[in-house]
Amino acid sequence: MEQLSFFNVTPVRERLDELRRLVEEHNQAYYEQDAPTVSDAEYDALFRELCVLEEQHPELASPLSPAVRVGGRPLERFTQVQHRLPMLSLENAMNLEEIQLFEQRVRSGLLLDDAVVLQYQCEPKMDGLAIELVYENGLLVQASTRGDGITGEDVTANVRTIKSVPLRLLGDNPPELLEVRGEVYLPRAAFVHLNREREEAGEPVFANPRNAAAGSLRQLDPRIAARRPLACVCYGVGVLVMQDEGPQTQSALMQFLAQYGLPVSSLAVTLEGITAVQDRFRWLLEERDQLPYEIDGMVIKLNQRIHQEELGVKSRAPRWAVAGKFPPRQGTTIIEGIELSVGRTGVITPVALLRPVELSGVTVARATLHNWDEIRRKDIHIGDHVVVERAGDVIPAVVRVLPERRDGSQQTIVEPQYCPVCGSSALREEQEVAVRCQGGLGCPPQLAESLIHFASRDAMDISGLGERLIAQLCQQQLVHDAADIYHLSLVDLMQLERMGPTLAGNLLQAIEDSKKRPLSRFLFALGIRHVGARTAALLAERYGSWQDLAQSPPELLVQVRDIGPTVAASIHQFFASERNLMVLQRLDAAGVIPEVVRIVKGSRFAGVSVVFTGGLERMSRDAARQLVESEGGTVTGSVSKKTGLVVAGSDAGGKLAKALALGVPVISEEMFLEQAGRVPDGTPDQT
Ligand code: IVH
Repeated sequence: MEQLSFFNVTPVRERLDELRRLVEEHNQAYYEQDAPTVSDAEYDALFRELCVLEEQHPELASPLSPAVRVGGRPLERFTQVQHRLPMLSLENAMNLEEIQLFEQRVRSGLLLDDAVVLQYQCEPKMDGLAIELVYENGLLVQASTRGDGITGEDVTANVRTIKSVPLRLLGDNPPELLEVRGEVYLPRAAFVHLNREREEAGEPVFANPRNAAAGSLRQLDPRIAARRPLACVCYGVGVLVMQDEGPQTQSALMQFLAQYGLPVSSLAVTLEGITAVQDRFRWLLEERDQLPYEIDGMVIKLNQRIHQEELGVKSRAPRWAVAGKFPPRQGTTIIEGIELSVGRTGVITPVALLRPVELSGVTVARATLHNWDEIRRKDIHIGDHVVVERAGDVIPAVVRVLPERRDGSQQTIVEPQYCPVCGSSALREEQEVAVRCQGGLGCPPQLAESLIHFASRDAMDISGLGERLIAQLCQQQLVHDAADIYHLSLVDLMQLERMGPTLAGNLLQAIEDSKKRPLSRFLFALGIRHVGARTAALLAERYGSWQDLAQSPPELLVQVRDIGPTVAASIHQFFASERNLMVLQRLDAAGVIPEVVRIVKGSRFAGVSVVFTGGLERMSRDAARQLVESEGGTVTGSVSKKTGLVVAGSDAGGKLAKALALGVPVISEEMFLEQAGRVPDGTPDQT
């Protein structure tokens, strides 16, 4: 990274060239490779310096300066799209005073009398990727990224996979042409989930939800985007061609968009006067961590269109709007040490102990390093200066190392050979990224974590039996495995801190109630590696009891939908353990007899009209028709609003396009077989 010094007396031209080069480079890293190399705050500082210098020295202006463009150039691999109207960026206001200054600029630009109170529309500044959606006569015909503001990338196929983007506008009288501008983002929970999956697969994790959204939208294969639950929020229009006059205020514009079924922010408000805007800014900053998505500020827009038109735009940003920026989530600090934490499945995770650093109002002293592959990939050492980021309530992460700040004292982070808690051996299994303690339930954190999972809402749902209580039960050696929970007495519970007779009674009742949970939840509760809630449900449906499942060899397990060799081996291994079988038998003896809920055969497509299009590879059209009919559905030849499902085979064409335009769900042949309850080779499973 370049170090900037205010003591360098560089001639303005040289500094300008340098700034343009730096900003261009960072733009590339940020917009084109989705891998920023400086923190947002550092980038903002460079960009501001560039804008100020250019303003002070109009004689040195250049049409190629990144200050007159927005973002980066589109990638070659996507078709390029010319925006009919440039997609602008926003100027920043870094604090409440700068918001005040914005109002002053607006007032002097509009030559307003002091008594006039201005109306502002305030919206969350979504931290995602700017997008343009083009609707012709109500149909989504194109979606493109902002690119450099003039030319973007055609990401229509990917955007079509975003559920909140309507493929057809609501209402009978859509505009002839409507270009909608908005932001595509990945909700925080989806980001955490995606990173966890990538981590397990040994793939590099994304630094923040924005990069994850950008990485997902700019996939050449739309199926990848489709698997990531991207969302969209709309906040503006480009070209609008319609019979009536368009909306005259920003707030009316939002209602106009919402009426067509386009997603708009529920947190947008219209306020009178800049003081109310400043209050709202403070309020939104407080709310920031509670929102299910990342925002990096509040956009403040002059509400009246006549005012907007009067003020006009500068080269890259309108004069009538400003982005009130929140304090950065990124910062730099030093890794002072490493702590190893042991989870439910025995995975030993390296956690960086940081020199405390404040990130948007929160002091951060630890950051996850995910695993040793990630440490190697990012070349992280103890003693390194690093950029850390806190994305809301997500655990802070190390974004990257600053190698230029090394002084030779840095130490390598070595993989542990023993569990730091129980001392059992620690191993990295073949093709695994995780190092795992082999101590099983004899390892205290593994026991506590496995019990927390067992009692959790989606598993046995024992209300009141949470993390703190489980920690105490383990500490007092009242439980050594899940079966012990069902042998707890009032006397046992009364020994615990803050436990009265009422609470203890309620807890015993909750434990009793959990004995009859559905088998699917029970199997999920066991915490078998690779068996999530969905797989547990499939297993429950297929086997009907844990005893039958326990006897099933891996060769039969792989016959169950969605179960591959790894999952089958893991299930087999779980039931091969004497210790696990003993716990299961004790659970059974204590009266934990889960209930079986079976899906009624013959109703999977009840009342659904299905259309097949394109070539089918696994079955004939006739077989497909029989399958639908045997599950209560009908097969028709053409797609209409009434079609419930379209199965698209290879080379699907017109019918697929029509289904997409009408918003009819489309699935692949493989997914169809799955929904029909068939295993991949086409034979029916035994439900
Ligand atoms: S309005 C002419 N509204 O922030 C005004 N932008 O820093 C152009 N953004 O490029 C943008 N939320 O990607 C606007 N409610 C919002 C926004 C928003 C996020 C993004 C957008 C824009 C960038 C500017």
